Amino acid sequence: MDKLLIEGGRPLSGEVAISGAKNAALPLLCAALLTKEPLTLTNVPALNDIGTMLRLLEQMGVKVEKVGAGGTAAAGSAASTDTVVLDASGLDNPVAPYELVKTMRASVLVLGPLVARAGEAKVSLPGGCAIGARPVDQHIKGLTAMGAEVSVEHGYVHAKALGEKGRLKGARLFTDMVTVTGTENLMMAACLADGETVIENAAREPEVVDLANCLVAMGAQISGAGTDVIRIRGVERLHGATHRIMPDRIETGTYLCAAAAAGGQIRLTRTSSAYLDAVIDKLMDAGCDIGIERDAITLKAPARPTAVSIRTSPYPAFPTDMQAQFMALNTVADGTAVIRETIFENRFMHAVELIRLGADIKIDGNTAFVTGKPKLDGATVMATDLRASASLVIAGLVAQGETLIERIYHLDRGYENLEQKLAALGAKVSRVK
Ligand code: EPZ
Repeated sequence: MDKLLIEGGRPLSGEVAISGAKNAALPLLCAALLTKEPLTLTNVPALNDIGTMLRLLEQMGVKVEKVGAGGTAAAGSAASTDTVVLDASGLDNPVAPYELVKTMRASVLVLGPLVARAGEAKVSLPGGCAIGARPVDQHIKGLTAMGAEVSVEHGYVHAKALGEKGRLKGARLFTDMVTVTGTENLMMAACLADGETVIENAAREPEVVDLANCLVAMGAQISGAGTDVIRIRGVERLHGATHRIMPDRIETGTYLCAAAAAGGQIRLTRTSSAYLDAVIDKLMDAGCDIGIERDAITLKAPARPTAVSIRTSPYPAFPTDMQAQFMALNTVADGTAVIRETIFENRFMHAVELIRLGADIKIDGNTAFVTGKPKLDGATVMATDLRASASLVIAGLVAQGETLIERIYHLDRGYENLEQKLAALGAKVSRVK
C-alpha cells in the first residue's frame, strides 16, 4: 500500500487549481440513469470514488465515455478539464452489488434514480464506514412514501415502484434529520414521479443545488433547492444535458487550512468562496488574511494561528468534512480550541494519530479539547478515513522532520493530484510504495 512521506516545518507558497467537487460529481453521475439520452459532465475530478461510481454504472448497462485532458493534469494547470459522457439508454441491470458498494457508500445514490427510471432496484446496503454507522433509513422512508415497496433482505435494499406502469407517485416527505444523499436520492426519484413531491427538512448543501441545476437542465421541474423545502413536479421523462461540476469547496478549505497551519501565502484558482463562509470566517478568526477574487481565493497565514473553536452542523454552518483539518490547525495554534462534532458519531479517529505527532488533545464524547503547542514532531501515522487523512497531511506539513502517512488510499478517494498540488505549493512530499 502506498504511503506519503512529508518533510515538514516549511511554509507554503504558490498557486494550485481546485478540481470539481467529489460530492457533487457522485450524485450527478447517477442522474444519468434518469434518461435515455446522453448526459455530459465537465470538470469531473479524477478520483478513485469517481472511478468506482463509473464502474458501478457500467455494470448496469450504462455506456461511459471519457473525453478531455485525462490522466494527471499538471498541478496548478487548468486541472481536471475531464469530461465524461454517460448514456443510460441501454440500462438493463438495476443492481448495485456489494463488491462495489462496500468500497463506496455513495453508491446508494443509484437507488432513487433506478426506481424512478426502471421501476425497481436492488442495491447493497452500504454498510458502515470508519466515521459511523451511516444508515439509509431516511432514503427508504422517502421512497416508501412515494409508493415504492421496499424490503431489506440479505444485505440488499430491494425497491419496486407499485404505481401503474411501475411509476412512483409524488408525496410530501419529511426527513428526521438533514441528510445530504438522502435529499439527493429523493429529489432524483421525484423527478419522474406522478405528481408533486415536497421534501421538507431538505439538505441545503451547495452540492444539492448543483444537482438540482443539472436536473432542471435535463427537463426536471424543481424549485427551492438550497432551502430546506424542495418542490419537484414529476415529468414523463428527462432529456440529455451538459453540466459543469461545481468546484470542490472541501478541497478548497483543506488547502486553505494547510496554509493557515504551515504558514506562508497561497492562491487557489478555479474555485469560489461562495460556499465557504463558515470556514473562511474561522480562518479569519485564526488570524489569516483572506483575499476573495471572482474565481480564486488567496490566504496569507499569520506567524502563528490563534486557536478557533468549531461546532459542525449542516450547511450553511461549519461543515463536518472540515472538522479534522481544523483539528490539525488547532494542534499548533495559540490557545485551546473546543471542537464539537454533531453529525457523525465517530469522527475523531485522526485525534490519536495527531497525538502521535505530539498534539495535546483530550476527547470527551463528541467534543475534543485541543491545546495548541509551538510545534509537532514528525512520526509514522495511519490514515483511517478521507478527511482524517487530510488532517494528517496538514499536521505532517507542520511537524518538524519527516512524517510518513500509511494507508493513503483514503486520500486518493477525495483529493486529485494531491502530491503534485502540494509540491506546487512548495511542500516536500513524495509517495512511497
Ligand atoms: C454526505 O454524506 C457526504 N458524502 C459526506 O462527505 C458528508 O460528510 C455528509 O454528507 C455530511 O455533510 C457525499 O455527499 C457523497 P448524511 P451522507 O446523510 O449523505 C444520518 C466526505 O468526506 N443519517 O448527510 O452519507 C447519518 O448517519 C463524505 O466527502 C441517518 O441516520 O451524510 C449522519 O449521522 C464523508 N439516516 C447524518 O444523518 C439516513 O437515512 C448526516 O448524514 C441518512 C443519514
